[in-house]
Amino acid sequence: MIKKNLADVDLTALRGRTVVVRADLNVPLDDGLISDDQRIEASLPTLRALREAGARTVVISHLGRPKGSPNPAFTLAPVARRLGELLETSVTFVPHTRGEAVSAAVQELDDGDVALLENSRFEPGETSNDAALAAEWASLGSLYVNDAFGTAHRAHASTEGVARAVREAGGEAVAGHLLAKELRFLEESLRDPERPFVAIVGGAKISSKIDVISALLPRVDRLLIGGAMANTFFRALGLDTGESLVEEDAVGTAAEILEQGGDRLVLPVDCVVASELSADVDARDVDRADVRGTDKIFDMGPRSRAEYARITRAARTIVWNGPMGVFEVSPFDRGTVDVALAVADACDDGAIGVLGGGDSAAAAERAGVVERLTHVSTGGGASLELLAGAELPAVLSLTNAR
Ligand code: 3PG
Repeated sequence: MIKKNLADVDLTALRGRTVVVRADLNVPLDDGLISDDQRIEASLPTLRALREAGARTVVISHLGRPKGSPNPAFTLAPVARRLGELLETSVTFVPHTRGEAVSAAVQELDDGDVALLENSRFEPGETSNDAALAAEWASLGSLYVNDAFGTAHRAHASTEGVARAVREAGGEAVAGHLLAKELRFLEESLRDPERPFVAIVGGAKISSKIDVISALLPRVDRLLIGGAMANTFFRALGLDTGESLVEEDAVGTAAEILEQGGDRLVLPVDCVVASELSADVDARDVDRADVRGTDKIFDMGPRSRAEYARITRAARTIVWNGPMGVFEVSPFDRGTVDVALAVADACDDGAIGVLGGGDSAAAAERAGVVERLTHVSTGGGASLELLAGAELPAVLSLTNAR
């Protein structure tokens, strides 16, 4: 079902109206300082559009997992400051989540102003999707905009609950520009992909990606496996993996996927091994059949890198989720970097290249290719669920487009 989004709303009618925006401003903090503000940046198109329209905008977001009670380590105060810098205005930080203080702060807003409420997860009713809390947040404005793609797989009071409460009260709950863009790339463009369609799935655990692999396998021309999860596939092939990380419980699942995938499933043929994970260690390239004793596999080898890059460059649609090796530690970053460069080359050549969030986004950043990719998702868990074909509760809850 297609949902209504901000582009369908008559912005000229928003002057002087209060609009509640759910953004995902869940940014990493290091000693109270924001270490990566990409999610704040990604929220700007919606907030700028509302400001320009003269709306009075109340932003709700979570930060971290404070477990339903106030915790200064998870305050959104630094995020409000950074948001103000990026929007080039002063953003009012409201150090409360609900009640009189929030209503009073909303009353104070002028046309074009933006306020950010304190962390929604300081409320115990947020993650339990409490109806009264959702109704209270819904009542703050006359339009609800959900732009929090990263949290769209959570049925929380500020996501699914508010949208439902707004609709039940006769109002509209629409997708913001970021949410609409994420859905366009991760869902709609993969519905009828231009071929060859190649998926690249990496990371440590098959168990966390099994739904994505199962959903993609019948649809893609090739599915390239990388990261430590490849070790579990090696074990399913009966290979020695030395002391490498292997998900013992998932060896049977790996064998079933190998059976289903046939030639479409591609595994590394060689590996970079070392006795420990360190930049100074003596790393060796070995055939996957020659891993032995105390060897630990930390990346794919040169023949695999070349083959993965060749397949990727020839693709017209690429979905990539998860690193190919321990990309944070050189020299074990080469598999991930070479794949990132190949995806970027394919995009330069007109292919659609979509990257899931989390680790993959950090890997693309490290490879310096972010600007060249068609779309880098701001959602980790949410993008995985979409790629696995799941419907996101916060999206389902929005107003249907006519
Ligand atoms: C994320 O960082 O993936 C989103 O902000 C969702 O956070 P959560 O996994 O704590 O719900």
